[in-house]
Amino acid sequence: MALSVVILAAGQGTRMKSQLPKVLHPLAGRPLLEHVYAATGPFPARDVLIVYGHGGERVRDALSHLKARWVEQARQLGTGHAVMQAMPLVKPASTVLILYGDVPLITHATLQRLVDAAGRKGLALLTVRLENPAGYGRIVRDSHGNVLRIVEQKDASESEQAIHEVNTGMMAVNAKLLRGWVGRLSNRNAQKEYYLTDVIELAVGERVRINTVSPESPFEVMGVNDRAQLSELERHYQFVQAQRLMRLGVTLHDPSRFDLRGELEAGKDVSIDVNVVIEGRVKLGNRVTVGPNNVLRNVSIGDDVAILANCVIEDAAVGNGARLGPFARIRPETVLGADVHVGNFVEVKKSVVAKGSKLNHLSYIGDAEIGSNTNIGAGTITCNYDGAHKHKTVIGNDVFIGSDCQLVAPVTVGDGATLGAGTTLAKDAPAGRLTISRVRQEVIENWQRPRKRK
Ligand code: UD1
Ligand code: MG
Repeated sequence: MALSVVILAAGQGTRMKSQLPKVLHPLAGRPLLEHVYAATGPFPARDVLIVYGHGGERVRDALSHLKARWVEQARQLGTGHAVMQAMPLVKPASTVLILYGDVPLITHATLQRLVDAAGRKGLALLTVRLENPAGYGRIVRDSHGNVLRIVEQKDASESEQAIHEVNTGMMAVNAKLLRGWVGRLSNRNAQKEYYLTDVIELAVGERVRINTVSPESPFEVMGVNDRAQLSELERHYQFVQAQRLMRLGVTLHDPSRFDLRGELEAGKDVSIDVNVVIEGRVKLGNRVTVGPNNVLRNVSIGDDVAILANCVIEDAAVGNGARLGPFARIRPETVLGADVHVGNFVEVKKSVVAKGSKLNHLSYIGDAEIGSNTNIGAGTITCNYDGAHKHKTVIGNDVFIGSDCQLVAPVTVGDGATLGAGTTLAKDAPAGRLTISRVRQEVIENWQRPRKRK
């Protein structure tokens, strides 16, 4: 049976005290709403409808890459009203799965059980038992355990308030039946809202069986209302990722000081020190060691690479046996070959460095091509920008660049060339020769340092 997913995301999110709509706040680097969307990803051929609020165009624009249709709910008149807005776009011969855009950790496995429990003609609720059920809608059952209705906290009697089983808000239900029921909802209740939860009583009245399903973990159904709850879910998410990676054989020196905001593929015996942030898609080869305080974003790292402390590496590829840092900055479109060393306070941008070359101290290398076994001395700068355009620096194999050289691009240094320290290279340096652009050293005889007159 076809599946129509309806994600409710029209709420204001006032308690976030933010200019950013709540469902766009990131968890593990990804908007809350996108987590919910991703949990429905494995359902074959599902339609996704997202109900957004007045002024929520920002949400729609930020998430325009999702394969979803957007439905505006101009005024937030309740969860039942929100679902009503989406019904015209729901296929009549489908199961509707209702989710919340601010409940990000729901898993696909739980949603699958919920959809299965609804069957073709029924309704299934995701419920959970809470130690403290305050604020939630309570699940009212008869003496045989059959669900009768859901009563909201504000409408509940004292005995109903004592019920610990609560409504998570997520449900799966036959579309045709749901359409009939939401059309009959009223707002005669304590909050003057159209409650989606009232469809339960209507279903029971029509002898439709209500099945219930519970999540594996209570974190799956926790919503984000404020920043404290957001951080709680973030920490839980990170805890789960860290445990999973350790089970796969990755050493994490402290799993509570590791953040994965994307996907990490790691080889055998990878070791990650504290305060490492992984973003986007990161691949680490076998026996890679990542020192403390590193940020790795969309990078592919070969085998036996050592990344020492305090590096930022993004959109780059690093060959086997390379050594980076401490304090190296590797910027986009950089490709470092095998056994390359990039050391302290070196910035490399959009450059290719071949096997065995070393850039060990205090350099800026941008738009460059460096051959193999070349040594770049301390303080070397490629002057790649003339204020309007970027130019290329080409440095051959087995080159020795002395300390504190400036290479004014476009410029080429031939294989085996040597540049004397302090050279400002404005013309090409020939292969195999020493090029130097330094004022000759002199000693001034009989010179005296000026002295203050008494
Ligand atoms: C709802 C349920 C309650 C359940 C609780 C779980 C109803 C009437 N009550 O209560 O039984 O225990 O969730 O968290 O359904 N939303 C819209 N448009 C609206 C109103 C809400 O899109 O007009 C969205 C919100 O953005 C949110 C979700 O629906 O994602 C739930 O709304 P909220 O106001 O938090 O409902 P509760 O009163 O907490
Ligand atoms: Mg709520």
